[in-house]
Amino acid sequence: MEDKDFLQFIEKVKKKTGIDLALYKEAQMKRRLTSLRMKRGFNDFSGFFEGMVKNPELFNEFLDRMTINVSEFFRNPSRWKVLETKIIPRLLKEKGKIKCWSAACSTGEEPYSLAMLFSRFMPLSQVDITATDLDEGAIAKAKRGLYAERSLQDAPPDLVNKYFRKEPPMFAISDEIKRVIKFKKHNMLADPFDKNYDLIVCRNVMIYFTEEAKNELYHKFSDSLRPGGVLFVGSTEQIFQPQQYRFESEDTFFYKKV
Ligand SMILES: C[S@@+](CC[C@H](N)C(=O)[O-])C[C@H]1O[C@@H](n2cnc3c(N)ncnc32)[C@H](O)[C@@H]1O
Repeated sequence: MEDKDFLQFIEKVKKKTGIDLALYKEAQMKRRLTSLRMKRGFNDFSGFFEGMVKNPELFNEFLDRMTINVSEFFRNPSRWKVLETKIIPRLLKEKGKIKCWSAACSTGEEPYSLAMLFSRFMPLSQVDITATDLDEGAIAKAKRGLYAERSLQDAPPDLVNKYFRKEPPMFAISDEIKRVIKFKKHNMLADPFDKNYDLIVCRNVMIYFTEEAKNELYHKFSDSLRPGGVLFVGSTEQIFQPQQYRFESEDTFFYKKV
């Protein structure tokens, strides 16, 4: 009974929003949504869905709960060092420009980190970064570009000094960095992928997906990269048998398309 209620909820959400909750790990997703449903006083998911349709605020709360927007600048800094000292120099040797996609970029910390890092190698006018997320609220925050100090703790101090100004208690990212990112809404589990990327950064979102969904996504990322291009994943997201997707490991958490 309870399962049927949740399965019907999944169907209705898919019809209404295009978001397929069945492609996310069920136990985790169900736990998060059940706690929100109960907090908001709905006895079952059927009532909760009707509530969401009537009340956009509840729909936004649902989105917040299912998406988990936590992010930081230069998250896992040792990996960003590898990106800076090994991956970017190799990519630039092969091609003067880097076409880059930050997929599931949340509130912007990741694509802005990329832009700041690229500025060490080339003029900002040559930086090409598309940043996408499912959650329009997160994208709106990314475009605003205001951050708490704690999200900057792993960012290199020279870049913080150069590209942020204090707007107490927040830090605002400079317009010159903002300008180089093309933010767009995009559902990785449903929307088409662009091609010919040199670098795709997709971190800390695959952990929420089922094995089947992940498997399909790795194939799609591989198809979207040029040979020699790189997929940079999160620090718990090692790919099992990368050869099956025409990837080889270039460094820990970096996969080169062969
Ligand atoms: C934990 S954040 C990761 C942010 C950033 N990549 C990082 O590593 O710091 C996960 C993001 O994935 C997004 N997301 C979840 N499902 C998605 C989907 N199907 N398509 C695109 N983005 C999705 C969420 O909205 C959320 O902003």
